[in-house]
Amino acid sequence: MSFCLPKPVIALAPMAGVSDLAFREICREFGANFAVTEMISAKALMYQDKKTRTLLASSRGDAPLFIQLFGSDPVCMAEAAAILASDKTIHCAGLDINMGCPMPKIANSGDGSALLSKPGLAAQVAQSVVQAAEPCGLRISVKIRLCNERDPLTTAQLACTLSDTGIAFLTVHGRTRPQMYSGSSDADAIAEVRQAVPKTIPVIANGDVRTAQDAADLLRQTGCDGVMVGRGAYGNPWLFREIHALLSGEAPPEKPTLAEKCEVFLRQLHRAGEVKGEMVACLEARRHFCWYLKGERNMKPFRERIVMIKTAAEAAEIAREIVLSQENAAL
Ligand SMILES: Cc1cc2nc3c(=O)[nH]c(=O)nc-3n(C[C@H](O)[C@H](O)[C@H](O)COP(=O)(O)O)c2cc1C
Repeated sequence: MSFCLPKPVIALAPMAGVSDLAFREICREFGANFAVTEMISAKALMYQDKKTRTLLASSRGDAPLFIQLFGSDPVCMAEAAAILASDKTIHCAGLDINMGCPMPKIANSGDGSALLSKPGLAAQVAQSVVQAAEPCGLRISVKIRLCNERDPLTTAQLACTLSDTGIAFLTVHGRTRPQMYSGSSDADAIAEVRQAVPKTIPVIANGDVRTAQDAADLLRQTGCDGVMVGRGAYGNPWLFREIHALLSGEAPPEKPTLAEKCEVFLRQLHRAGEVKGEMVACLEARRHFCWYLKGERNMKPFRERIVMIKTAAEAAEIAREIVLSQENAAL
């Protein structure tokens, strides 16, 4: 299967607990032209963990998609890659390797961002996944964060080392591990990576894209081949079409109305229910619903009810009342 990255890439970031199939499909509807699944444990995949199967849910419309794996054992990562590559029920164009997760649960086991301080092992992991999956037609990418002074290589050196393993492209989140998700993302450091890595390897810049202007600035500052949007997409899939419009010199699209936000949220909830069952979908949808309402006035009483939602019918009723309350306020 041949795969070409869109130009420029305007991607939804992998976010555990957020970037599920339902949210990815909604973001694509509004212009996300690339997406990566929530991270999936290579070990769990080998043990056929049931929850992991849900994380692998994909659809023909959810393309191009990369499945993200985490792990630091080259053999286990290769086996997991081979499992995914041979599963014809999964629609994916490639596999992404997580070398950025700073969460103690992951990094303390040597996975995720812990690989930044072991460049030799990081390269072995990338190479073994490339060798296992590329012959089956899957492309491989790696997502890293910035290295810091305690790491043996600079981020640019690490990126060059990884580029030599046969990966198709690289995503760089402009924060270091100690920063976790706070402070600001360093666009200049991402630009250094873009400069250092061969031009044949696309580099996607990630960090702090909250507006279309942020995306345009990040592309310009870094010279990268695309941007990846994380938290800026929370409750705001419309950001992707705003980015497209700005980059192509079109007038900014209309902002969504509150009624549209509710309608899109309910569709996302419905789809999530199909994939993971109504109960789980509703629990996870509580925060999505609050994110969709961010910036809207007089939502406090609704939020108090949203955080208790157990059924899709309850969510629909709250959405109906929200829209009605706004119509009444406008009278
Ligand atoms: C809730 C949450 C979950 C995340 N899960 C993942 C993950 O599974 N894999 C990954 O590579 N990065 C993960 N990230 C990091 C994001 O992909 C992204 O690199 C980071 O949020 C920076 O982008 P932003 O500033 O646009 O949010 C996660 C971030 C958040 C906030």
